[in-house]
Amino acid sequence: MTTAPAAGAANETAPAELVAGFDAVVAADSRIEPRDWMPDAYRSTLIRQIAQHAHSEIIGMQPEANWITRAPSLRRKAILIAKVQDEAGHGLYLYGAAETLGVGRDDMLDKLHSGRQRYSSIFNYPTLTWADVGAIGWLVDGAAITNQVPLCRCSYGPYARAMVRVCKEESFHQRQGYELLHTLSHGTKEQHAMAQDAVDRWWWPSLMMFGPPDDESAHSAQSMAWRIKRHSNDELRQRFVDICVPQAEALGLRLPDPDLRWNEERERWDFGAIDWEEFHQVLRGNGPCNEQRLTQRRTAHEEGAWVRDAAAAYAAKHQAKSGQEAMAV
Ligand SMILES: [Fe+2]
Ligand SMILES: [Fe+2]
Repeated sequence: MTTAPAAGAANETAPAELVAGFDAVVAADSRIEPRDWMPDAYRSTLIRQIAQHAHSEIIGMQPEANWITRAPSLRRKAILIAKVQDEAGHGLYLYGAAETLGVGRDDMLDKLHSGRQRYSSIFNYPTLTWADVGAIGWLVDGAAITNQVPLCRCSYGPYARAMVRVCKEESFHQRQGYELLHTLSHGTKEQHAMAQDAVDRWWWPSLMMFGPPDDESAHSAQSMAWRIKRHSNDELRQRFVDICVPQAEALGLRLPDPDLRWNEERERWDFGAIDWEEFHQVLRGNGPCNEQRLTQRRTAHEEGAWVRDAAAAYAAKHQAKSGQEAMAV
């Protein structure tokens, strides 16, 4: 009856009824909650995925924050500050969701800073012009939404619930990027060219955000069986292309793919080959900004040490005080 083959295989000593209970919850499309029994491999897969997702949110603040001081108007500045702040919030929800699986935030941050856990390779590209803020909103946040909407139905409750709120905010991010690009595209000749150049640079890396092709994706089949993942990488990538083509047309911008054509039979857009060598190079640390992003993150963490110390001292003081009050009662 189960759709989660070998779900309990990682906990060889787990009683059969626990495994059956887990399988039944997954098969019924219900949620696994933190106190429920779960296979070790399910827990470690989620920790890896949620930590990577949280890291992507906070590293993703960097490329755009780079433009806050140079935003062309107060309105644009306010929108961009709100967006970058939202990404910090997404990081918080996600670190919180990962903590429910028994992993500490210090441990996750330590792994990020030492390169033992990853973040999305898209954030290793530079933001060269103001139009990049628009292209990131439209394409990068757009790809994130396509990836994350199905995660709202993920089998792990805290992750699924965090995603509901994240997706609402991502849709504001996507729209502000689209509106920014639309303004530039319909502005002066130079502004149009700047918007086109940004789309030229961000299009292919955005398609890579869906991960390697299905036949090379190491974790996909098991994640789908556990209903962490609902659609394959290639399926989501195709969905994203199909959404973007008419939007690019409405923006008056061209997608940089000469092989893009409507396929009557499939009723989907065919698109050109992705340069997976570039993807693997960036993943290996050889992207244009890998070094810069991690260095900046480590520095921010070190410089924030006094805030964490002060918050911990404050919490300890109040805990001691409420303990004394409880004794007095
Ligand atoms: Fe986000
Ligand atoms: Fe976002």
